[in-house]
Amino acid sequence: MKDFVFNVDTKIIFGENQLSELGKEIKKYGKKVLLCYGGGSIKKNGIYDDITGELKKDGIEYVELSGIEPNPRVDSAREGLKIARENKVDFILAVGGGSVVDLAKLISGAYYLDVDPWQVVLDSSKIEKALPIGVVLTIAATGTEMDPFSVITNLETKEKLSFASDLVLPVFSFMNPKYTFTVPEKHTVAGVCDIMSHTMENYFSLGDGCYFQNKLSEGLLKTCIKYGPILKKDPKNYEARANIMWASTWAINGLLDSGKSTSWSVHPMEHELSAFFDITHGTGLAILTPRWLEHCLDEERQETIGNFARNVFDVKEEDDLKAAKEGIKKLYEFFENLGVPMSLRQVGIEEDKLKEMADLAVEHAGGKIKGFKTLYGEDVYQIYKASF
Ligand code: NZQ
Ligand code: ZN
Repeated sequence: MKDFVFNVDTKIIFGENQLSELGKEIKKYGKKVLLCYGGGSIKKNGIYDDITGELKKDGIEYVELSGIEPNPRVDSAREGLKIARENKVDFILAVGGGSVVDLAKLISGAYYLDVDPWQVVLDSSKIEKALPIGVVLTIAATGTEMDPFSVITNLETKEKLSFASDLVLPVFSFMNPKYTFTVPEKHTVAGVCDIMSHTMENYFSLGDGCYFQNKLSEGLLKTCIKYGPILKKDPKNYEARANIMWASTWAINGLLDSGKSTSWSVHPMEHELSAFFDITHGTGLAILTPRWLEHCLDEERQETIGNFARNVFDVKEEDDLKAAKEGIKKLYEFFENLGVPMSLRQVGIEEDKLKEMADLAVEHAGGKIKGFKTLYGEDVYQIYKASF
């Protein structure tokens, strides 16, 4: 196990009866809020009324940035910065999922800088001071509620890039599982796939002596395998929503990869797909992951993948290679049974763009994707082709 620092000080306020604390939490940091939200789901399901009711009750002024799109665009950050600066806000409240929260993080990090926000995405070391952010989470998936990451799309350059800064880590996140009852099936399922992908990106590595972290990962994957199908049938099942929501936070907040030498593989490949074709992030990950594991399967890695098969999917096979193959098959079937369209063709990806996207995926990763197995342009192309 390598040396590490684990220090994620987002205050989590979890459960169905906690929102009355919102005003008190905001007042610790500011009194004029930029309220950020997406395309309108919070107006339909009543969350907007709950939030604005709390703000009014506590005499907190707010201005709004609405319409933040899935795969959030740098243009929305430009608009949000204008509103935030004109109104001299001192706090950002992001109500939504990964897209809204990530966009709010960019506004937060760019607020005190005299540069275009895309420059901040390209070089987040510019951020020395940021506006504090609080979150009310409405969909379980990305873990953005307790992590320092943000993923932003630039439509002009066809890039979807991430940045990280501890300064944009949310100071608090309200997590009410009931707020996720109305998430449509497609996004509920994509969220489960995203949580599983974060866990697997952290899990698959070679001989780093992190037994504890790996056992936590296996438990997290089993949680998704147990509750994902329940949510498909019964979207208002509180126990299932609560377990999936809490799992989403811990899949990516630094615990599972503490002390490990993992570096992510499937996310860089997926980000090109959503940059080019605006597909749902979790769907892309589910399509790619079994094909990526097949591509990685060799003598050096068969024991790790075989153990994954035995410990996560209860495969009984003793031979590592056979167990690994069986595990990959079970993973594929799990996603398929959840209703994920399991080919790139089905989600509208065009075959003649595969090569260009593969080359860009490795270029954005600095020439190669250094993960469980190092991937070059040709490897990524093969994985895309196998997924097509
Ligand atoms: O925009 P609205 O109308 O709110 O609708 C949203 C959106 O259409 C809807 N939704 C959210 N909560 C709802 C709801 N509909 C009904 N009821 C609710 N309670 O769901 C749709 C998807 O929302 P979005 O925020 O895009 O989903 P998600 O949380 O999966 O975020 C995806 C984005 O996060 C990035 C992804 O790349 C993608 O851009 N990621 C961020 C990460 C991070 N910050 O750590 C890591 C991830 O790996 C990921 O890359
Ligand atoms: Zn993800």
